[in-house]
Amino acid sequence: MNDRFIVTIDGPAASGKSTLAKLLSKRDGFLHIDTGALYRTVGYALGLNPTKEQLDNLDLTVEKKDRIVIKYKGEDVETFIRTEECGMLASNVAKLEFVRDFVNDFARKLAAKGKYVIDGRDCGSIIFPDADLKIFLVASIKERALRRAKEDGKSVLKIEKDIEKRDKQDKNRKVAPLFKPKGAVEIDTTNMSVEEMYLKVKRLIEDRYEHNNS
Ligand code: DC
Repeated sequence: MNDRFIVTIDGPAASGKSTLAKLLSKRDGFLHIDTGALYRTVGYALGLNPTKEQLDNLDLTVEKKDRIVIKYKGEDVETFIRTEECGMLASNVAKLEFVRDFVNDFARKLAAKGKYVIDGRDCGSIIFPDADLKIFLVASIKERALRRAKEDGKSVLKIEKDIEKRDKQDKNRKVAPLFKPKGAVEIDTTNMSVEEMYLKVKRLIEDRYEHNNS
């Protein structure tokens, strides 16, 4: 039996990645590594144009709870990094190769023995190309904007424009652009409930787990 089981979830902004990862963490004991949160924290702490030296000296620590809690200067930054402004900052620093190397190493070191769910844009293509199960989530832009609007109360139209711009940037950058990884299962969640999405992925995990251990 393998001592590590990795599920990667990639997809564009607000496609349901973190909702799915959180459910797998809460119900099935997967430890959640949110690579977007790492990029957001780098952007939050260092701004638009970080240097490698600044990154090497960044006071970033983690605490392993049900999720991997990312701490900047000893403080959990979760509540500060979730704005769309910080999302755009993250998308910008994510174009820098040395930042990507930093996040990739960070994520790989965290995933030792056990069950992990890792979400982002290149988790199944670059960070864990040998993942046990790769999921690629998509949903219409309208639906994604509606979901975000429900969360933060901003105008659907404004959110639609913001995430469209961010998706374009993430898909067209030179280093590790967003695309469906080889071997990934694509799930369109536009007309799916959260529960339906979760159950579909849970079945895929069970199948893969049985296959690995047969
Ligand atoms: O998943 P998120 O919205 O929190 O990610 C914020 C930004 O970070 C996203 O627009 C692009 C970047 N990102 C990335 O380039 N690669 C990842 N694996 C995760 C996020």
